[in-house]
Amino acid sequence: MDRRWTVSTATVLVVGLVPGVAAAETATARTGSPGAPGIGDTYYPLDGNGGYQVEHYDLDVRYDPATDALSATAAIRAVATQDLSSFNLDFVGLDISELTVDGAAATFERDAGELTVTPAQWLPVDSEFTVTVTYEGVPETIETALGTIAGFIHTDDGALVVGQPDVAATWFPANDHPLDAATFDVALTVPEGLEALSNGELVSTETADGLSTWRWAAAEPMAPYLAVVAIGEFDVRAYEEAGLRYWDAFDPDLFTTPSNPEDPASPTLGEIAEASLARQPEVLDWLAGLGGPYPFVTAGGIVDDSTDLRFALETQTRPIYSPFFFTDQVFGDLVVVHELAHQWFGDDLRLGAWQDIWLNEGFATYAEWLWLEKEGLATAQQVFDDSYATVPADDPFWTVLPGDPGPDALFDGAVYNRGAMTLHALRQVIGDETFFAVVRAWAESQAGDTVSTDEFVALAEELSGRQLDDLFDAWLYTQEKPALG
Ligand code: ARG
Ligand code: ZN
Repeated sequence: MDRRWTVSTATVLVVGLVPGVAAAETATARTGSPGAPGIGDTYYPLDGNGGYQVEHYDLDVRYDPATDALSATAAIRAVATQDLSSFNLDFVGLDISELTVDGAAATFERDAGELTVTPAQWLPVDSEFTVTVTYEGVPETIETALGTIAGFIHTDDGALVVGQPDVAATWFPANDHPLDAATFDVALTVPEGLEALSNGELVSTETADGLSTWRWAAAEPMAPYLAVVAIGEFDVRAYEEAGLRYWDAFDPDLFTTPSNPEDPASPTLGEIAEASLARQPEVLDWLAGLGGPYPFVTAGGIVDDSTDLRFALETQTRPIYSPFFFTDQVFGDLVVVHELAHQWFGDDLRLGAWQDIWLNEGFATYAEWLWLEKEGLATAQQVFDDSYATVPADDPFWTVLPGDPGPDALFDGAVYNRGAMTLHALRQVIGDETFFAVVRAWAESQAGDTVSTDEFVALAEELSGRQLDDLFDAWLYTQEKPALG
C-alpha cells in the first residue's frame, strides 16, 4: 500500500502534471478500475465479464427435489487481467447470504443478471484471487427462443440443468461465456436414494444422515454452459473401454416406455437409448479419425425421461439427451454422433463469439452425414442434394445466415443444415483429401482454444491454396440460396 503511494507520487513528480489532475489519475492507477460487465459478445453484451479469467470453479450444491430449492457455496479461483477495483459475475436470481474475496467480506450489488463485487482490497493485475459465494433459492427455468424450456428443469424425481447459451448463471455465479473456460469440481448433495450426475470423473459418493454427496471432477477446462447436472433416479453404469472411463445414466422409467406409444410391443426408449450409447466407444474412435484423439479423459451420456427436455446438449464429457431422440435406432445413433462430435467441435474448440455458432452446429451436423455414409445408409452427397433440392429458393430457410443468425435464430435449422451444407460445398471445391486434412488440422491446431469463422476460412485457404471468400460469403453470409458450382 505505502509502496504504491510512493511509486504514484514519484510518477507525478517526474511527469510534473498539474496536481489536481495528477491526483485523480494516480488514484485510478493505484486502486484499479472496474472490470467490464460483459466479455464483449456482440449477441449477448452482458454475458461474461472483463478484468479476470477464471481458473477453477468449486461448486458445493445441495438440492432438495421436495422444495425445488438449492443451497450452495461456489468458490471461484480467478486471475485478474487488469488492476481491478471491482468485478462482475453473471448470476440470476437466488439469494446471496455471504460473499468473500480471499476470505475477507466484500460488498456486492445486483442488477438483473449482473453481480458486482467490490473487494475490500483492490486486486492487482496478474494476482490470483478466490471469490466465495454462499447462496440459496429456487433456480429459474429459462424459456428459449425455440419455445422450449432450458436451464433448471424440475423433473418428477429431481432436476436437470441444461441449456445454451445462458444457463450457468441460473445456478452458480459465473463468467458465463465460452471465452472463459475453467476446470470444475462439482459436489451434489441429494436425498439418499437419488443419483446425482455431472461432468468428468466420479471421485466419491458418501451417504450420511439421509443425504448422499456425489463428487465430480472435470479435469479439462470447460465453458460454464457445458456444466451439467442431472438429479433423480438413474441407473448409473461405470465402465472403461479403450483406456477411457465412461459414466452413463439412464432413468429406469425409460425401460417401461414403448418407443412407439401405439405399439406396446415396440422396443422401449431405454432399450434404444442403451443401444445407441453402447456405440459411444465406436463413435469416439471413428470421430478420432476425423478430428484427432478424443480431447478428454472421461465420457458418457445422460438420458432422463423428462418430457420437458426437448433437445440434447454436448455437455462436456457427458452429453445429456432428450428421451425423444430414442424413438428410432438410427435417429438415436445420430444424436449420439452429433453430441460426441461437439466434444471436439464446440467443447474442446470453443466459440470466441456466439455469432459463430455454425462452427459448432454445422460441424456436428456434418458428422451425422458422414456417419450415415460410413453406415452405408446414405452418402453425404445424397443428404446434401436432398437438403438443397427440397428447400425452394423463396423459402425463409435461406434468409437465416449461418454465419450471422442473430440471437433469436441461434439454433435455427439453417445454422445446422446450411452450416453442414457449407462444409460439403467446401469439400466439393477442395476435394476429399484436402477437406479431411482441413478438418483434422482445425481440430488439432485449435485444441483447447477459442475459434472464429475467419480462422477457419484462413486455414481452409492455406491448406487448399485457394481463395475461398466467395464460397463462404455465398454459404454463410448471403440471404439467398447459393448457386451450385
Ligand atoms: N447445441 C445443442 C445441440 O445441437 C442444441 C441446444 C439448443 N439449445 C436450447 N436451449 N434449446 O445438440
Ligand atoms: Zn449441436
